[in-house]
Amino acid sequence: MNITVLGTGYVGIVSAAVLADFGHNIWGLDIDPKRVENLKKGKSPIYEPGLEELLQKGLENQKLQFTTDYGQALEKTDIIFICVGTPQAESGEVELKYVYSAIEQIAKNLQNPSLIVLKSTVPPGIHLKLKEIMDQNTKVSYEFASTPEFLREGTAVSDTFNPDRIIIGTESEKAQNTLLEIHKGLPGKRLCTDIISAQMIKYASNSFLACKISFANAIARICDLLGANVLDVMQGIGMDNRIGEKFLSPGLGFGGSCFPKDIKGLYFLSKQAGYDFKLLDEVSEINDSQVAYYLTKTEKIIGNFADKNITILGLAFKPDTDDMRESRTIPLVNELLEKGAKITAYDPIATETAKVVFGDKIIYAKDKFEAIRDCDILILATDWNEFKNMDLVKIKQLMKGNIFVDGRNLYNPKDLKQFGFVYVGIGRI
Ligand SMILES: NC(=O)c1ccc[n+]([C@@H]2O[C@H](COP(=O)([O-])OP(=O)(O)OC[C@H]3O[C@@H](n4cnc5c(N)ncnc54)[C@H](O)[C@@H]3O)[C@@H](O)[C@H]2O)c1
Repeated sequence: MNITVLGTGYVGIVSAAVLADFGHNIWGLDIDPKRVENLKKGKSPIYEPGLEELLQKGLENQKLQFTTDYGQALEKTDIIFICVGTPQAESGEVELKYVYSAIEQIAKNLQNPSLIVLKSTVPPGIHLKLKEIMDQNTKVSYEFASTPEFLREGTAVSDTFNPDRIIIGTESEKAQNTLLEIHKGLPGKRLCTDIISAQMIKYASNSFLACKISFANAIARICDLLGANVLDVMQGIGMDNRIGEKFLSPGLGFGGSCFPKDIKGLYFLSKQAGYDFKLLDEVSEINDSQVAYYLTKTEKIIGNFADKNITILGLAFKPDTDDMRESRTIPLVNELLEKGAKITAYDPIATETAKVVFGDKIIYAKDKFEAIRDCDILILATDWNEFKNMDLVKIKQLMKGNIFVDGRNLYNPKDLKQFGFVYVGIGRI
């Protein structure tokens, strides 16, 4: 099939590369010319394991092409996947300007009857407004559908080849069959539903997972007050298969381009629809206060952060990605700088992205040992594999101080005490 993928960010570029691998003819379109130029040379705009190889294979097989020109990308298309960003607007609502602009361009340039599939996370029912724009601007026949995306950054390629489930929201049997056919080679359960429900599934999934994380963080705070071990508590509740063990790790909280904006998005959508979804507000509130919780705990030990040399290990919002969007290290670094600390940071992959965020306000080290040398306080902020089993003797020797802030609960406080560290974690005894 001839498929156009609009937007070549985390979702678009991975979808385009995987669809090309299944033998479809893909045009990937982005409004960012530099990104498109790099893609034409097989250079991935993002760090994602396995992606660049897949891109190069698609280019070599002539299944994958890139452009900034809507006319070219839509000339022979049968299916259009919309994968443009839907960030959070300043008001907290979902920012839809990229989706509207993509639809205006489709309406202007469409030549073939097409199925327009919303893969971006959008407010349920928005396709009704998008239809109005289409109807005012084109006579070519089209239909809307929705297949929300569930890939996780860091494992996006393998998630796309091995999805747990594929949600297909359509308004006709023809559209449903087309989308079932496109996804034919992939494993995972299928759920066919209407468009609004498909989009609601995406918001509800992300909100539920965010609830689990904030729940674990709230329980961890109570464990601190009562002297319980939150890791045992989480393991114990996770053994109940109605609850499950995943997404129950307490720490600095969740970040990334999806959870924070999607729970706020659903909160606003619910309010506009007439339901005050207070639970989601509280989930954000717990998450937003985790960094301050850790810093207050640390301040109780050291007095204050002024002129302290702090090392931060990990800057990306999670391991195996260079994405810094809503990373918990952003409020962490900003609050520490405000308190007068001097920061050196190391991340295995996200340093270049971090430079855009923090500029020269912090020092970027080339490896973890360089970062740790002579620091007063070490903060482990992202659970990259290389931070999981560090040589504690060497670290203690390199550090000037002995405060170890474990923002991802990776270490046992008792082990760290044995090596001479003062441990700051959450819910650990
Ligand atoms: N990143 C994830 O892990 C993830 C997972 C599931 C769902 N989603 C959802 O998928 C959507 C895309 O997310 P992302 O992380 O890939 O975004 P992104 O910001 O990485 O990429 C968006 C791309 O769209 C391009 N773009 C903007 N307007 C355009 C237009 N009019 N025409 C063509 N291209 C345009 C931008 O230049 C950019 O390259 C969002 O709705 C997001 O919520 C993301």
